[in-house]
Order: sequence, then structure tokens, then C-alpha cells
Amino acid sequence: MKKNRQNNPLLAVENIHLKFGSRTILKDVNFTIEPGTITVITGKSGSGKTTLLGIISGLLRPNKGKVFYKGKNILKWGDIRRSFYRNKRIGFVFQFFNLLNDYSAFQNIILPTMFNPFAKNAAHHANELIDYLNLKNISSHHPETLSGGERQRIAIARAVINNPDIILADEPTGNLDDESAADINSLFIKLRKENDKAFVIVTHDHRIVESADYHYHLENTELTLQAPAGKKKSETKSSPKKTTAKKVTKKSVKKTAKKATRK
Ligand SMILES: Nc1ncnc2c1ncn2[C@@H]1O[C@H](COP(=O)(O)OP(=O)(O)O)[C@@H](O)[C@H]1O
Ligand SMILES: [Mg+2]
Repeated sequence: MKKNRQNNPLLAVENIHLKFGSRTILKDVNFTIEPGTITVITGKSGSGKTTLLGIISGLLRPNKGKVFYKGKNILKWGDIRRSFYRNKRIGFVFQFFNLLNDYSAFQNIILPTMFNPFAKNAAHHANELIDYLNLKNISSHHPETLSGGERQRIAIARAVINNPDIILADEPTGNLDDESAADINSLFIKLRKENDKAFVIVTHDHRIVESADYHYHLENTELTLQAPAGKKKSETKSSPKKTTAKKVTKKSVKKTAKKATRK
């Protein structure tokens, strides 16, 4: 197979199988991600959602299958190239924020740039982001003095400081009150629309599911595309670049799966 294929999706997960011991967690999992889209993954606790995010980020190696980033299989890369991919191309948002309490919000936001040899004008960029995400009034505060919603906004700023293409969020509103959860959801939509980021969000939050472009459900080792989440196309397809994005339908998922098994 040619290494660099034409018209590659941003990310393509193909024919993934993963076992922990003798227990199968993921079986023949397939999906693609395009820039400027929000994809949500739902599923019961223990169904393998966090595991799947680990595979996308290159932290976990599946027993079988391929993970293509812009047409290149990240599973063939060495540790250094994969950790660069994780630091530069992927941003992470967690349920419990994972901020460092000894540092201010600003310092937390800027931290990933220290491991990115290509980061230039990091402080300037952090300040721009702080303005853009309305964090100015809390940028000198330490996380433990802030509310859950404020902490998650800082975590999102930290996730995007290296300008990644893909943001992986693992139950990002699971620990927030309703109002803060709505605020975080608006932030995802703003970043997706205005910055063409691709989000993969593991969530049970009906608001996030409803505003997503694609909804997958993980159950009994299988990932299946769900019916559109009750949104009008005009609302979910407003990003100009998204008109060029391949539309993911049940049919196209089946086609990708078929293709993957042929390789
Ligand atoms: N490193 C591991 N070794 C063995 N089992 C694991 C490991 N990580 C997760 N599991 C198990 O795999 C299943 C899926 O875990 P996880 O992906 O965290 O589920 P979810 O995020 O959907 O709640 C769970 O039963 C969990 O206990
Ligand atoms: Mg989980």
C-alpha cells in the first residue's frame, strides 16, 4: 500500500482490534475525522472510550489495525516521532482538568510549548489565546482558587496552545454544573468553527451530543455511527472548509470498513 495517499482525511482509524489480556475491548473499529468537525463518542462506563482516545493519540498500541494521520500510519513511527505527534498535533482535555496547582493559569496554559521545539513567541501566543477565550481576569490565578468551569476553560487553552489539529476530550463536562458545561460546549463550537479544529469528545452530555457533527456509540466492542443528532445541516456545516470535508454517513463508514478489510 502507498504510504501517502491522496485526499487523506485528517485522521483515519482502520480495522482496530484491541485486547487487554484475553478480553476484547475493541473489534474492527473504523472512523475518519475531518477538520472543523465535532465527533462525539458515547458508551457505557468500561466500554473502551478512553482506550480508543489512547489509540488515536498514539499512547496505546492496538493488537491490529492502522491509525493514519494525514495518510501516514502513526503506528509505524518510533517513540520520538509519536511523542512529537502527541505534543504538537493533539490537544487533550480531561474530566478532572489535570492542571498543576503550583502554577498560575497562564503558566499552565504555556506549559506544552516548553516541550515543543517549534514553538515561537509562546508568551505572546498564550496572551492572544487568553484574550480569545476570555480568560484575562483569571490568568494570574492558581487553579485551586478557580471554579470547575474556569479550570476547564484553562485546560482547553492549554490543549490548543501548540495549535493542534485534533482535540481529544474525555468527559470534559463530567465534573461541571449545567451552566459551566454549556459554557464549555460553546467554547468547543467556537474553536471548531473559527479555527477549523477537529474535536473527538467522549461524553454523556446531551448538549454536546446534539451539537456534534457525528455521533458514534461504543458497545460490546463495536463502534457504530448513530443517526444525525437532530441538528439541521445548515447549523452543523457552517464552517466554509467543511463543505470540502467528506461526509460521513453509515454507507461511507461501511465502505471504509470494507476497504480496510481488503488491505
Ligand atoms: N491498561 C489496562 N489494562 C487492563 N485493562 C484495562 C486497561 N485500561 C483499561 N482497562 C479496562 O478496559 C475496559 C475499558 O476501559 P476504558 O477505555 O477506560 O473504558 P471507558 O473509558 O469507556 O469507561 C475497562 O474494563 C477497563 O477496566
Ligand atoms: Mg473513560
